Amino acid sequence: MRKDKVFFNIFRFHPDTDKKPFFQKFEIPFIRKDLTVLEGLYYIQQRLDNSLAFRSSCREAICGSCAMHINGKYRLACNTQVSKLKSDTVTIRPLAHMPLHKDLFVDMNLFWEKYEHIKPYLMRGKPLQTPGEQSQSPGERAKIDILTDCILCACCHSSCPVTASHEKYLGPMALLNIDRFVSDSRDGAKEERLAIINDEHGVWRCHTVFNCQEVCPRDLNPGGSIAHLKMEIVKNKI
Ligand code: SF4
Ligand code: F3S
Repeated sequence: MRKDKVFFNIFRFHPDTDKKPFFQKFEIPFIRKDLTVLEGLYYIQQRLDNSLAFRSSCREAICGSCAMHINGKYRLACNTQVSKLKSDTVTIRPLAHMPLHKDLFVDMNLFWEKYEHIKPYLMRGKPLQTPGEQSQSPGERAKIDILTDCILCACCHSSCPVTASHEKYLGPMALLNIDRFVSDSRDGAKEERLAIINDEHGVWRCHTVFNCQEVCPRDLNPGGSIAHLKMEIVKNKI
């Protein structure tokens, strides 16, 4: 691998001007040894081709905006260092299983609709017996600790073969996030939540492929959440 230059091979498509998608190669200098893929994309956009479209925001792996397919795997562009890819060429494609707007910029409306569908907020169920702050024990909190780490990046969604073939499948992101509320001691709507996912578009559609776990940049395990939700459905006789 050359240390002074790197090639970015980028999926391009502008629906107004292009008949079909193509890949465009850019050569950029290896500005620093910890150059990230996102910095490379900004270099191209700001110095070589300002028509390049991609999504990003926080640049520190918190907002989940810059997920894309980079050298064979869905990852965040902001925390992927070019040197770690061990290749002269960085090949980038957009997230999959979503309509394409332009280049690396996809329409995520369906993804957000799935998130909205699982009611991603605490629901008390019965009125509070003791109004005021509802505390959790350290053990109760530990049950949701890791689940609250999801940054809604859609790497899992795009890597799942079932979301590719079943548009209505809720998918790993939505199912992990419903597990976050099912497992929360402050939530009082467990039965309602389990009923939402107890059909052919919910947990039973998962084929336990586990690509979702492999790609998650937060080391979450949506497949494990799905297994937990299936057990909860059976246990609660939903
Ligand atoms: Fe991204 Fe992981 Fe959340 Fe899926 S579970 S949306 S891969 S952070
Ligand atoms: Fe898809 Fe993950 Fe299930 S990759 S099939 S949601 S285990």
